[in-house]
Amino acid sequence: MVLRLSLLVSVLVCVGATFPERIWESCVTNQTKIRANTALQQKSIAVSSERFCVALTIVNDWADLLCYDGGTCNLWGFDALSVGETEVNKTGACKMTAFLKRCVNPSQPTARRLFVGEGSFEKTCSNGYKYTCYDDGVVRLNDTARVKMTACGEHGFISTSLGCLLIVTTRLTYSAARQNCMDFGADLFYPNAAQDVTQLSSILAAYASSGDFWFGATKFTGSFTWLSGRKVESIEISGFSAGSLELFGKGKADNHYKLSDDDCEATLASLCLATTF
Ligand SMILES: *[C@@H]1O[C@H](CO)[C@@H](O)[C@H](O)[C@H]1NC(C)=O
Ligand SMILES: *[C@@H]1O[C@H](CO)[C@@H](O)[C@H](O)[C@H]1NC(C)=O
Ligand SMILES: *[C@@H]1O[C@H](CO)[C@@H](O)[C@H](O)[C@H]1NC(C)=O
Repeated sequence: MVLRLSLLVSVLVCVGATFPERIWESCVTNQTKIRANTALQQKSIAVSSERFCVALTIVNDWADLLCYDGGTCNLWGFDALSVGETEVNKTGACKMTAFLKRCVNPSQPTARRLFVGEGSFEKTCSNGYKYTCYDDGVVRLNDTARVKMTACGEHGFISTSLGCLLIVTTRLTYSAARQNCMDFGADLFYPNAAQDVTQLSSILAAYASSGDFWFGATKFTGSFTWLSGRKVESIEISGFSAGSLELFGKGKADNHYKLSDDDCEATLASLCLATTF
């Protein structure tokens, strides 16, 4: 376990050095409410397409919400997201940043940095997550553990070749499943190496478990990334539809539990992984 942990830490540090740019998600927002609030940071620029509107956010890097109305690019800052009760919605007319900032990294002179201890919301689902920038330059969910475990084996966790796992058969949404893991100081399961996940079917079979599970992977950086920060490799993936917009990873029971994608509101069983006690 000590070795696994040190490997994980080195992976996290490494990823922190190249934290990717934010991505834009279609959303619905109440522009009436936003326009009524004159205190909000705002800018309107005439452009010929939504694509140029998105491009303008590179030089207006304070913008977290944009609405293109067929000639004008309207940009708003972070505060407009809550004022407009903005929600990610594939059919929405506006776009919002799904991942708002990058963690501080002295080697990257970007204006859009999150400083150590600062929080940022990832709002890709109805209940967004607050991330905190840590000393190692990685943005992670704040530890909200309610039950502190002192060893694997407590609270139904089992010791396996893939670490200390909890098989949660109650079907939950992605957010609820992740919160449930975090309540134990754990997180949704992620494999440390691409080959590891092939062991999962035999581990689960030993506990008479099967079917699909939420995995600790999300697409908040534009491509699927494990919660450890490791990029999901192609051999770990199965069953993605081309151009799929789903943002959350689930382990699909066929193909030795390769990663597939789903909507955060789907309800599935889940697997938690505890790495610290
Ligand atoms: C948007 O906000 C306005 C002003 O508060 C309100 O009257 C209107 O019903 C809202 N629209 C939607 C679709 O919620
Ligand atoms: C997306 O927006 C449409 C139109 O406002 C609404 O009917 C639909 O329920 C929304 N979908 C989600 C997942 O919120
Ligand atoms: C986690 O959240 C708590 C409560 O909001 C806060 O006091 C604490 O500083 C946060 N931890 C980190 C590492 O940001």
